[in-house]
Amino acid sequence: MAMNLQVKRVDVSGANFIGLRGAGRMSKKTIGWMKGQGVRAVAHLEIDGQRKALPIRLDDLPESMLAHTLLTGFNRQSFVQPADMAAVSTKVEVLLTNQEFGDKVAARLIDEAAPADDIDWSKLPFDLNLPERTTMYVAKVRHTYDAKKNTVRGSWEAQNPDHSKCLFPFSDTLESPAAQNKHYGQLCFEGIKAFRTIDGRLVIFRLRENALRLQRSARRLGMTPASVEWYMEAIRQAVLANKDLIPPPGNMAAMYIRPVQIGSGKRLGVKEAGEETLMIFVSPVGPYYPNGFEPIKIRTPNSSIRRSGNGLTGRVKAAGNYVMGLIELIFAKKQGFNEILWIRNHNGQYYPEEVGTSNLFYVIDGELYTPELSDTILPGVTRDSIIKLARALGIKVHEGEMPLTEVLARATEVFSTGTAAVVTPVGSITHLKQEVIFNEGKVGWMTQLLYNALVALQEGRFDDPALDGISPDLLEEFKADWIFYLEQERQPAV
Ligand code: COI
Repeated sequence: MAMNLQVKRVDVSGANFIGLRGAGRMSKKTIGWMKGQGVRAVAHLEIDGQRKALPIRLDDLPESMLAHTLLTGFNRQSFVQPADMAAVSTKVEVLLTNQEFGDKVAARLIDEAAPADDIDWSKLPFDLNLPERTTMYVAKVRHTYDAKKNTVRGSWEAQNPDHSKCLFPFSDTLESPAAQNKHYGQLCFEGIKAFRTIDGRLVIFRLRENALRLQRSARRLGMTPASVEWYMEAIRQAVLANKDLIPPPGNMAAMYIRPVQIGSGKRLGVKEAGEETLMIFVSPVGPYYPNGFEPIKIRTPNSSIRRSGNGLTGRVKAAGNYVMGLIELIFAKKQGFNEILWIRNHNGQYYPEEVGTSNLFYVIDGELYTPELSDTILPGVTRDSIIKLARALGIKVHEGEMPLTEVLARATEVFSTGTAAVVTPVGSITHLKQEVIFNEGKVGWMTQLLYNALVALQEGRFDDPALDGISPDLLEEFKADWIFYLEQERQPAV
């Protein structure tokens, strides 16, 4: 293969402990140990002007260019040092032109939408991290009221048939102060994440489930649900337009996608809005809590404030749910807590509901528990993923009610789940001024396993040891149902 090849960088993940340097082959024992650590690498190349990614398999290592250039020391992500690039480049060329390996390895080359090189992916806060070039998606629909069905009717599909016309440079939108969402709060939203997998593919995790929930939220708030296929395509377009903002795998980073559907018609009386707007913006983000995968401290409300109630909107993603408890959260943060544990009072007993922005899980006698869904609990997509992953890993899962006093007395691990929170260990709960510490304030084994399994799936590390306990059939099912490849024509890696 005659080519003009340049190696841009080499990412290594799963490399927390590895530090190999010096020429020579690695022994089978070393490779076996590295496999156990989940070490893998991707070389990012430019071949005749085209960007490509080359997943390096550990079995290639004795022969490949990484045998003497693996440098580590970072958490999950590392780079071949610039000084070693020339040597690596020569070795990749040798590899690709080698009869024995050429075909096999070249077949693995993947066209790469390279991540931006002006962002420090390892230091992203969970916030808007928007370079100027960001693109947003905006579509509008007009609706009318259908009295027979007591619903509004409009067609996003018919009124916005061409998604490419809905892409604009990100900007602050100027809307009438009389727009219905501005004063009556008619607004629902979603939180979704896109990832760059370890072999360079771009994926959105469980996009269909988020689109389905956006439908339910829109309906509940008197707005027009679009078809799931239309929502999914709108979100795909918004992500594709910003694909360099999908971080490389590792660093607890991802692209956060925020679709927002609002009643935008101008109104004074309370009635159907007449016009709605869907806006989708994206931002690369790091972990939701600044300390990353570290146990957080939470407390129950010190007041009668609650985030939702029976018959209200807790089971959909209405903006109001988050603002209901905001003042309590601000106060708790000032006191050194990270979140509020929302509770319900029933017949003199308190029952746990949600952890601020996420769903609650706890471990008792090696089994996993979570409050069952109700009007006051959001059906989290991550909640559902964790329940299914835990069951696939042979863990017994219970969805039900348990008084808070019993949870506090019996739980050995507590964690919360959400798109933003992923799996967040909870180190302690303070209730009525009494702090109860779980697992000595450290991350428990089940929390760690479920976190590892979830992130492995999101980043396409299907041979991660955390997934070992899942049957091959179930793993295939998760891959097929949960992972949405942005470039649909491309089939999942075999
Ligand atoms: C998410 O987890 O994605 C959410 O939407 C919660 C948000 C308040 C950060």
